[in-house]
Amino acid sequence: MLKNKYYKIITYGCQMNEHDSEKLAGMLEEMGYLPTEELAESDIIILNTCVIRENAELKVYGKLGELKQYKRENPDLIIGIGGCMMQQDEPVAEIYKKYQHVDLIFGTHNIHHLPALIEKIAAGKGRVVEVWDEEEGLIPDLPSQRKSENEAWVSIIQGCNNFCTYCIVPYVRGRERSRPLNAIVNECQQLAADGVKEITLLGQNVNSYGKDLADETDFPELLSQLNEIDGLLRIRFMTSHPRDFSDKLLFKIKELDKVAKHIHLPVQSGSNKVLKEMNRGYKREYYFERVKKIQQEVPEVSISTDFIVGFPGESEKDFEQTIAMVEELKFDMAYTFIYSPRSGTPAAKRTDQVPEEVKKERLQRLMKLQNQISYQKNQALIGTTQEILVTGPSDNDPEVFAGRTSTNKLCFIERDDNLIGKLVKVKIKTAKSWTLEGNVVNA
Ligand code: SAH
Ligand code: SF4
Ligand code: F3S
Repeated sequence: MLKNKYYKIITYGCQMNEHDSEKLAGMLEEMGYLPTEELAESDIIILNTCVIRENAELKVYGKLGELKQYKRENPDLIIGIGGCMMQQDEPVAEIYKKYQHVDLIFGTHNIHHLPALIEKIAAGKGRVVEVWDEEEGLIPDLPSQRKSENEAWVSIIQGCNNFCTYCIVPYVRGRERSRPLNAIVNECQQLAADGVKEITLLGQNVNSYGKDLADETDFPELLSQLNEIDGLLRIRFMTSHPRDFSDKLLFKIKELDKVAKHIHLPVQSGSNKVLKEMNRGYKREYYFERVKKIQQEVPEVSISTDFIVGFPGESEKDFEQTIAMVEELKFDMAYTFIYSPRSGTPAAKRTDQVPEEVKKERLQRLMKLQNQISYQKNQALIGTTQEILVTGPSDNDPEVFAGRTSTNKLCFIERDDNLIGKLVKVKIKTAKSWTLEGNVVNA
């Protein structure tokens, strides 16, 4: 009998990368590989990389160093590296030269070529590098090996046209390309038929969905059609760009029962000067107006955001505008990042970079404030009844089950295998900054 072959994929970065890894896994499984968590037992190891901030890149180099020993122990091991980092010339050249144990380098536009590339290596053709610059055309639909039975990611638009001056994504993921509406609806119908209860629609800017399509299709229309699918209980989406967050979309979110009442609306900064230099395309006042209107129309909504601190030229006064914004808008949650210069982006060339200690100190202040607000907002839920979609055991304890509220708050309940994949009502008994805990209420 033939010996089983095993694969391990290590993923860095955002949900889009996670979802690409599910597709890579789907292809590897079609080739006959089985999943493993053990690097030592793997026949193929793939790193799916991210370049959004410097620390993402450093982690990849660290891991590459570590993988050398596995190649030494098993010379037949295939080591591949793909993802956003490989869409740049410098890292590709450096890895090709300094990390001789890497057999395969591929990019974000040609993940569907993985099987052919692996076969080339297996046929003894030596090391393989294939990265496409292509900005046109969609990556074809590929089967995904999903991690969860009742949740799934669905890509609706690839790439980004926004060119925020700090951001590398448009350079490594190409221009915006929307998937045809019927392809998305068909995929979601199939997922629902397979038992999936919650889908998360993915795109760097989901509100741009359809702009590049010939028909009148837009994101609110897509939501309407997906809301009709039997068996689906919830529809999430990310990320929304504030500039394109229309009233039409707001009223769809309000109207459609399956659409989660959670909006991730990255603002990045509270200072108009910084927003302008970031090329975000909106002002602080506009963002306030959007959030206030959303809160007024959908009172139960939760809003999360992203902030970058220490963008070049950010003064103490600019930063205080960010703090004031957080105090007033009271986000449910915020992801906070220290600005990281990315080579090739306009902001990285600026000579007025903010010193590292200042950036760190600002990050601490912002995080401390947001933690308090998240804590207070969750505390206010104690005693209320919330509906959660139960996904299964929590990561840390199989006896504790986890689920999320429509507003995207993680909530723990006692284990009950019958509840997996169901919407259940939970009375909240304790709350921390990032999690809730409650008891199931019998209907
Ligand atoms: N498309 C999404 C988010 C993409 S990246 C959007 O526009 O909102 C996720 C987050 O990483 C961004 O919202 C931003 O806060 C952060 N980010 C992007 N580039 C960065 C950089 N160079 N340094 C630090 N944070 C960055
Ligand atoms: Fe990057 Fe801006 Fe595009 Fe988001 S919208 S991916 S931050 S360029
Ligand atoms: Fe990173 Fe690429 Fe996502 S750079 S954040 S993995 S789109």
